Amino acid sequence: MSADRVVKIRDVRTPGETYSIRGWVYRKRIHGKATFIVLRDETGVLQCVHHPNQNPQVKIPENLGIEASVQITGIAKEDKRAPGGIELEITGFKLIGPSHMFPITKDQSIEILLDLRHLWLRSRRLTQIMQVKAEAVRAAREWFHDNEFVETFPPILVGSACEGGATLFSLKYFDRQAYLSQSAQLYLEALIFSLGDVYSITPSFRAEKSRTVRHLTEYWHIEAECPYKGLEEIMQVEEQLFAHICNTVAEKMPEAIRAVGRDPDFLAKIKAPFKRITYEEAVDIVHSYDIDMEFGEDFGARAERALSNHFDKPFFIYRYPEKIKPFYVKRDPDYPGFVLSADLMAPEGYGEMTTGGAREEDLDSIVERIKAEGFNPEDYSWYLDLRRYGSVPHAGFGLGTERLVWWMLKLDHIRDACAFPRVLNRVTP
Ligand code: 4AD
Ligand code: MG
Repeated sequence: MSADRVVKIRDVRTPGETYSIRGWVYRKRIHGKATFIVLRDETGVLQCVHHPNQNPQVKIPENLGIEASVQITGIAKEDKRAPGGIELEITGFKLIGPSHMFPITKDQSIEILLDLRHLWLRSRRLTQIMQVKAEAVRAAREWFHDNEFVETFPPILVGSACEGGATLFSLKYFDRQAYLSQSAQLYLEALIFSLGDVYSITPSFRAEKSRTVRHLTEYWHIEAECPYKGLEEIMQVEEQLFAHICNTVAEKMPEAIRAVGRDPDFLAKIKAPFKRITYEEAVDIVHSYDIDMEFGEDFGARAERALSNHFDKPFFIYRYPEKIKPFYVKRDPDYPGFVLSADLMAPEGYGEMTTGGAREEDLDSIVERIKAEGFNPEDYSWYLDLRRYGSVPHAGFGLGTERLVWWMLKLDHIRDACAFPRVLNRVTP
């Protein structure tokens, strides 16, 4: 190994070899004459030690600060006490970027840490969460690719709402009003006519006006739409995709998952098919916990938590009352007042991960329900064309990436599944 070739910390393995690494100072302490530097990069941390009597040519600045960036060359030594069992005896040192008084110290309030998010992201924990998130999205793309779904790129600036007016962000678009997309669904519905099974991974925006541990105002939405699928077939797509993501991150990143707080075996064991219960059965479960809820209403936060805690594996709730679902949901011909819609729920109290289902094909019914939601059918004229020209039965769903990561890693708050979380009181950094 040439001393000039820079390697990642993870690859410093063989005692006696000389390595160069680049990283940031994670910890520093002076013990007698020796200086100990724990260096971190994206692959891990490594203890490096400088003994001035053995390597007098090396000068380490006395004021070397936490998070300074440095390049270190050294000889790997076995050391039982060092984290990872290997330590680097420093033979060369170069300061790349100094760091004076790094503002993150122990015991800071969560709000200060959120103000310093751009720096807090360097913590091991957030690094590992972001790595798992990246792997989860990569696994999702892999599943779609293997199953012949075509990736599409729907717009973010849109002229009509998908998920109701209450959570719509509007903005001035030259001399008219436009919105930030809540869901790519309506556009995916247009794309199935030319591309068949399609998916997209886009930001979605929701003007959520309450502070909860599971709502963001901006999140990454994994959505799919399939011609000639019904409710049961789309649930099969969802459970297979969901299991593939869980199994893949468990296989590829067991240490990160364990370090953040979840046993990777739990995710490795998630297998399709998932249990399916009706809305009616779900309401009975909620009532069995002495939680008040009217039949026909949506599950409140408490009811959803109780339901989710009732199960130890992901499950579906299907056939919801029509009045709590949007205008595009297909009514169940066999159960008047109910729709062919399903939510995929995570266990352990985390709740809703996806919503999906079959889409209404009847033009008049859609128009009537768009009006009932307080919108103007003219704003949906392009969408209504899809029912006019060669309409086919179809179904789709949307999965919130951060909801998924939040549950997979058992995080306390969904914001930790985002590098730069957007919530009611925060759009910076
Ligand atoms: O349940 P939602 O609103 O359904 C739709 O948007 C459908 N149009 C999707 C489709 O059929 N293509 O949102 C889908 C998922 C939720 O199940 C949840 O995982 C996530 O998006 N989600 C949020 N994630 C974080 N913060 C929020 N405020 C979210 N709102 C929805
Ligand atoms: Mg939903």
